[in-house]
Amino acid sequence: MSQHYQYDVLVIGSGAAGLTLALTLPDHLRIAVLSKSELASGSTFWAQGGVAAVLDDADTVDSHVEDTLIAGAGLCREDAVRFTVEHSREAIQWLIEQGVPFTRDDQTAREDGGFEFHLTREGGHSHRRIIHAADATGAAIFNTLLDKARARRNVELLEQRVAVDLITERRLGLQGHRCLGAYVLDRASGEVDTYHARFVVLACGGASKVYLYTSNPDSTCGDGIAMAWRAGCRVGNLEFNQFHPTCLYHPQAKSFLITEAVRGEGGLLKLANGERFMQRFDERAELAPRDVVARAIDHEMKRLGADCVYLDISHKPADFIKAHFPTVYERCLDFGIDITRQPIPVVPAAHYTCGGVVVDQQGQTDVPGLYAIGETTFTGLHGANRMASNSLLECFVYARSAAEHIVSRLPDVQMPTGLPSWDASQVTDSDEDVIIAHNWDELRRFMWDYVGIVRTNKRLQRAQHRVRLLLDEIDEFYSNYRVSRDLIELRNLALVAELIIRSAMQRHESRGLHYTLDYPEQAAEARDTILTPPIYGD
Ligand code: FAD
Ligand code: SIN
Repeated sequence: MSQHYQYDVLVIGSGAAGLTLALTLPDHLRIAVLSKSELASGSTFWAQGGVAAVLDDADTVDSHVEDTLIAGAGLCREDAVRFTVEHSREAIQWLIEQGVPFTRDDQTAREDGGFEFHLTREGGHSHRRIIHAADATGAAIFNTLLDKARARRNVELLEQRVAVDLITERRLGLQGHRCLGAYVLDRASGEVDTYHARFVVLACGGASKVYLYTSNPDSTCGDGIAMAWRAGCRVGNLEFNQFHPTCLYHPQAKSFLITEAVRGEGGLLKLANGERFMQRFDERAELAPRDVVARAIDHEMKRLGADCVYLDISHKPADFIKAHFPTVYERCLDFGIDITRQPIPVVPAAHYTCGGVVVDQQGQTDVPGLYAIGETTFTGLHGANRMASNSLLECFVYARSAAEHIVSRLPDVQMPTGLPSWDASQVTDSDEDVIIAHNWDELRRFMWDYVGIVRTNKRLQRAQHRVRLLLDEIDEFYSNYRVSRDLIELRNLALVAELIIRSAMQRHESRGLHYTLDYPEQAAEARDTILTPPIYGD
């Protein structure tokens, strides 16, 4: 039997953004935090490098803002960048108060007897400003915030719950646009339950799983973007998909990232013959922003017909490497690569979704009562290319701002009542799950081949033709069969793929992460690509 639940705030996603928001809301609110598989299923747990923030006395807000604007290739919204950077120090202070064990720098003992935190460097940053927990920052943050959330009696952490769609007044044929809750598949019972909520927050992460090769875990299927679009929210700049330059290239290594901090601490990119090449592409060489480095690697691999390039840090002392990169060291050793003595074979892979659901500085979407935070969103911070370690920062700053806004709105918003149960009377169990598996593979492969690091009009048209066929097939499947996690994800991935392709086709220039052979120049005017769903504003 399907169930009905009521919460003051329903948070869909248990990563950095979702947990921060839940912990920032007051204790008298009843809060549910959903995860579609285990709580650690998002990207947060896997983050390596750290969080960018203005912490060093020699660094300034203006400098961090300037670096972000440069990396974003003229497309960042300066107010969003300044807002984020100005709140960076307090966000880090909050994390330290929660107990996140950031790496301390025992080289710089302070006069008061305390120790400064170690700050590392990454591409695009003109200062050392990345606070980190060795090379496993995401796990340190996630575990700390999860412990705190577990200790809160008003926060329910619900695993294996897959949000299927948002419930809005419009969907129910009522006057108005307000979001009233969500339909959620309980994977244990197989039922779709109805969650009533005064406020709903999408904190579902990005959509990099739309590509065949990705650094991301399995959860990043663009669910938040797809649900928001169907509910009537605009999406922005979805053509800017960031490819991380250095993922481990090894037949058995599924999605293992080699942190950019390896280059920040002196790692060099080389061809198989040991020759360096980055200085041929950019004067910042290995520390150029990610779009530049990924494109240079892609170019060299295609030019030479090579399967990978190499990242070499073996010239640094072995103790230094093991102390700074213990996770990378151990993981590579599992595959027989001793990084203190050998270069690491690496390739680019899809890493981050720069665009997403359009929100304001309080995380409000176009639908009243619906907020979005974290990688699901388009805040204007990243422009055409996210600078390293600005993503976690965005999660913390916007989650805290959205929580504050929700609190300010509490007196005006009642608990919705009488929402209808999910209607499963017209569907049966599928006997052809092979279709889901096949479509999933096909989608991710053509996105990689046609909508990847280098694009052309022809490739985009091919991809659009394919994705439209898939969408029809998936819609038919969705109307006739009981929902499963795979079907929900495929439906969302295909929709987000279509939005990515449509956005890419609208951009007649090359800028940041969007590089097309048909329009290789950057246009004089920088414009966002904002798509509006058919039902919005009608
Ligand atoms: P996530 O952490 O991805 O969490 C998403 C949550 O939503 C999960 O709990 C998932 O189960 C849930 N969810 C999704 N869909 C549904 C649904 N339909 N129903 C219910 N639940 C759902 N950024 C940095 O700033 N610094 C770094 O060093 C860094 N390193 C990275 C390394 C790797 C390997 C990767 C993959 C990313 C890295 N990033 C880094 C990017 C950064 O980690 C992510 O952008 C950030 O963690 C996203 O957090 P989030 O809370 O928005 O989403
Ligand atoms: C990394 O450690 O290289 C990832 C940093 C990021 O994605 O911001």
